[in-house]
Amino acid sequence: MTGEIELDGNAGSPIVIGHRGAAGEAPENTLASFRLAAEQGSHMVELDIHLSEDGKLIVCHDDTLDRTTDRTGAIRSLLSDAIRGADAGSWFSPSFAGERVPFLEEVYDLLPPHIEINVEVKDAGGALLDEVLLDYLRGGNRLERTVVSSFDHKLLLRLKQAEPELRIGLLYAADLIHHASYAALLETEVWSLHPHHGLIGAKDAGDAIAAGLRIYPYTANHPAEWDRLVSVGVTGIITDYPGRLKEHLSSR
Ligand code: G3P
Ligand code: MG
Repeated sequence: MTGEIELDGNAGSPIVIGHRGAAGEAPENTLASFRLAAEQGSHMVELDIHLSEDGKLIVCHDDTLDRTTDRTGAIRSLLSDAIRGADAGSWFSPSFAGERVPFLEEVYDLLPPHIEINVEVKDAGGALLDEVLLDYLRGGNRLERTVVSSFDHKLLLRLKQAEPELRIGLLYAADLIHHASYAALLETEVWSLHPHHGLIGAKDAGDAIAAGLRIYPYTANHPAEWDRLVSVGVTGIITDYPGRLKEHLSSR
């Protein structure tokens, strides 16, 4: 089913959002991981981006290649050819040897259009990243399947002002007094809240949903956490195990 109701989620059945693809079962932020998240029925996948030295949008969580590839170095100081030469799969398991660090466009090309994409901007590298990202998202009906999130809320505001059609999601790990009121401070339409999963309660969620916000907490990997989030009434759950979450929700 790909209807609006499922994509938007609801209090009883939050949407499944694959974190860095299906990072619990495949090397994070690789095409193998995104493919698996799609096969497991994710409604949306989350990924992280940085800008390379030559201005390409690179999908990687850390600002260096060190932890998740067989090469080292800061992404913003490397040319994309060098980044593409890295093996991003072997560190996770030899069965994923040869996986590459993807360009953002490869993920959009890979995933069927009904799967939404949550692009988390890690490198608030300034105007160039803003421009390259918005240029890319403006093409090919990509804006409508994208939510851009970041811990840098000034960056999100800047992007939203430059492109009013962009859907933005606020990432944070704080026990805010009133989540919906914080979003209202931006004085622009906020699509979604992405709080740490342990820092959102039922009243927070109810008030936010009443204000028209969606709530996609990160990163919950255990059944007890999923059950709590369902009882809280969130609209989506970001998880490293989208397949397990999907099964868990169906069995409830
Ligand atoms: O977007 C949710 C989550 O990915 C934020 O934290 O460090 O896993 O990117 P991190
Ligand atoms: Mg992330």
